[in-house]
Amino acid sequence: MSQVAELTLDGKSYQFPVIEGSEKEKAIDIAKLRDQTSYITIDAGYKNTGATQSAITFLDGENGVLNYRGYSIEDLAEKASFLEVAYLLIFGELPTEKEYADFEYEIRTHTLVNEDMRKIFEGFPVNAHPMGVLSSLVSAMSAFYPDTQDSPDLTSLHIIRLLAKLPTIATWSYKKSQGHPVNYPQNDLDYCSNFLNMMFALPVGAYDVDPVVAKALNKLLILHADHEQNCSTSTVRLVGSSHANIYSSISAGISALWGPLHGGANQEVIEMLEAIKNDGGDIQKYIDMAKDKSSGFRLFGFGHRVYKNFDPRARIIKKAADDVLNKLGIKDPVLEIAQKLEKAALEDEYFVKRKLYPNVDFYSGIIYRALGIPTNMFTVMFAIGRLPGWIAQWKEMRTNKEPIGRPRQVYVGPAKRDYVAMSDR
Ligand code: CMC
Repeated sequence: MSQVAELTLDGKSYQFPVIEGSEKEKAIDIAKLRDQTSYITIDAGYKNTGATQSAITFLDGENGVLNYRGYSIEDLAEKASFLEVAYLLIFGELPTEKEYADFEYEIRTHTLVNEDMRKIFEGFPVNAHPMGVLSSLVSAMSAFYPDTQDSPDLTSLHIIRLLAKLPTIATWSYKKSQGHPVNYPQNDLDYCSNFLNMMFALPVGAYDVDPVVAKALNKLLILHADHEQNCSTSTVRLVGSSHANIYSSISAGISALWGPLHGGANQEVIEMLEAIKNDGGDIQKYIDMAKDKSSGFRLFGFGHRVYKNFDPRARIIKKAADDVLNKLGIKDPVLEIAQKLEKAALEDEYFVKRKLYPNVDFYSGIIYRALGIPTNMFTVMFAIGRLPGWIAQWKEMRTNKEPIGRPRQVYVGPAKRDYVAMSDR
C-alpha cells in the first residue's frame, strides 16, 4: 500500500497521500486539507511548500546536485551549447542535429526588434538601471505581439521571439550608457557571439569576438538556465497562472530576479568586494558585520535556501573564473579578496553552523568583469541565462493546466467592529 500521512486534529484523524518524485523526494499531498478539516497551513517564505510537480529541474541541496531534465549541470556546462540547453529545458529532450539547426535558425532570424520599441527605450533616462529597462521592454513586447490565443504554434513563436530579442534589447542600455549607437544583430553569428558583438562592436572599426569570451559566456548562461521553483520562476508561474501572456509573466520574473537577495546579488557581490578592497582589504570587518544582525548587512553571494552543503554552480564558476582570467591575462585584485573572504567565512562558526556556502553569484561577477560586462549589467546577464528556464516553467504550468495560484492567509487584523462616525473618533 502506498504511504499515507496521518494528521490528528480536534480528536479526529485524517489521512493524506504521500507523493514520491522520480529522485525519491517525498511530499504530503494536502490538496484536500481545507475541504476535510477547515484548516490551512502556514509556511512563511514557502520553505516547506511544494508549489507544483515539475519534470524540468532536479535539485538536491544536501548533496549539491543540479540536473536539467536528468542531465547533470557539470556535464551540460562542459559539453553543451546554451541554445541546446534551452531546447532541452523547453522541449524536454536534447535536440537532434536537425531539431537544433531548425531551432537555432528560428532564433537567428527573429533577433531584430521592432523599431518602435527603440522609441520607448529612448524615453528612459541614461542612468536607468538596465534591469528596470529590460523588464519594461519585455512587458512592452506584449503590445507588439498581442495575439495570445492558446495555440501551440503561436506559443512557439512567442518563445522564439523572447529568446531571440532579449539579448538585443539587453545591449541597448549599455550602449546608451556609453553614449554609443546601438548595434543591430548579426545573424551569421552564434547566440553568445551575437550578444558580445552587439555589446562591444563600434561603428568605427571591426570587432572580433574572442572565442575564450564567447565560451565563458556560454558556460555562464548554461549555469543560470534554470533552478526549479526559485523566487523569479515562481513569479513567472504565478503570474502566468492567471493566463496573463508570456511577455508579462517573464517581465514579472525579471523584476523578481532584480532583488539583491536573488539575482541582484551578483551586482552586490562585486560592489562588496570593491568596498573591501577600498577599505584596505579588511575582510574580518565585513565578516563581523554580516554576523551582526543589527547591521542589516549580509555577505552577498553567500547562503542559499536549498543548498546546505555546496552550490554546484559556484564550484564550476570558481574554476571558470580562474581559467578565464588566466586565458585573458587579467589580474583582478577582487578575485584574491573573494578567495580570502570565502576561506574566512567557511572557517567561521557562524557560517558553518548555518550551512552558508558561496552561491552562484559569488564568483560570476568576477568573470563578467573579465568579459568586459559592466557591474550594473550583471543581473541582466543572469536574466538572459534564466530565460529558457522561465519559459520552460511557464509552458509546463500552462500545458498541465495548473489552477490559478492563490495562496490563503491567516487574518490577524482587528476583529469585526462597528464603523465610528468621523466626529466621534
Ligand atoms: N550573510 C549573513 N547571514 C546570513 C546570510 C548571509 N549571506 N544568509 C543567511 N544568513 C543567516 C540568516 O541571518 C539566518 O540566521 P539566523 O538563523 O541566526 O536568523 C540564517 O543564516 C538562515 O538565513 P535565512 O535568511 O533564513 O535563509 P533563507 O533560506 O531564507 O535565505 C538567502 C537564503 C539566499 C536569501 C540568504 O542566504 C541571503 O540573503 N544571502 C545573501 C544574498 C545572496 O547571495 N543571494 C543569492 C542567492 S543564490 C542565487 C539566486 O537565488 O538568485
